[in-house]
Amino acid sequence: MQIQVGIITISDRASAGDYDDLGGPALKQIAQKIGWHVLAEAIVPDEMVRIQETIRSFARQGCGLVLTTGGTGIGPRDVTPEAIRAVMRVELPGFGEVMRAESMKITPDAILSRNLAAVVDQALVIALPGKPSGAVECLSFVQGAIPHGVALAQGTPTSC
Ligand code: MTE
Repeated sequence: MQIQVGIITISDRASAGDYDDLGGPALKQIAQKIGWHVLAEAIVPDEMVRIQETIRSFARQGCGLVLTTGGTGIGPRDVTPEAIRAVMRVELPGFGEVMRAESMKITPDAILSRNLAAVVDQALVIALPGKPSGAVECLSFVQGAIPHGVALAQGTPTSC
């Protein structure tokens, strides 16, 4: 079954229109290239409640996969991991571990990233960096596990 994707750009400045959102469109392009269907898109500020509401709303709409970009750094407004952890059922630490380890081969700054994946309601949520190229790179590092992860998150019978 085709994966239904929701894409959320988390950025105060992009949501205020101070600059163009580049991360969301970059993820949309790669998602479509992979063959997934982009069902929902949003740009939200770095606010816990807005992030949580948007993820849950996308899950309710039928997104089995929610990709976020932004807010995983250590800036005072970076709250994406905290927002996700406050509503998740389980975290999948392997995603963050692999994204950081592979990204370290590209830039030492990757150690500053708090990328993660978790199950929220029935969606697999993957929090990617805010830098568009970093978000696309991180998605590529974990792409292979996504179809099975989405099926498990959605409770679809699947064999290993
Ligand atoms: N990961 C990859 N694969 N490629 C990158 O260029 N940039 C990093 C890092 N992860 C990067 C990356 C940078 S510059 C920072 S500061 C941290 O992610 C945190 O990014 P964020 O605050 O945008 O989430």
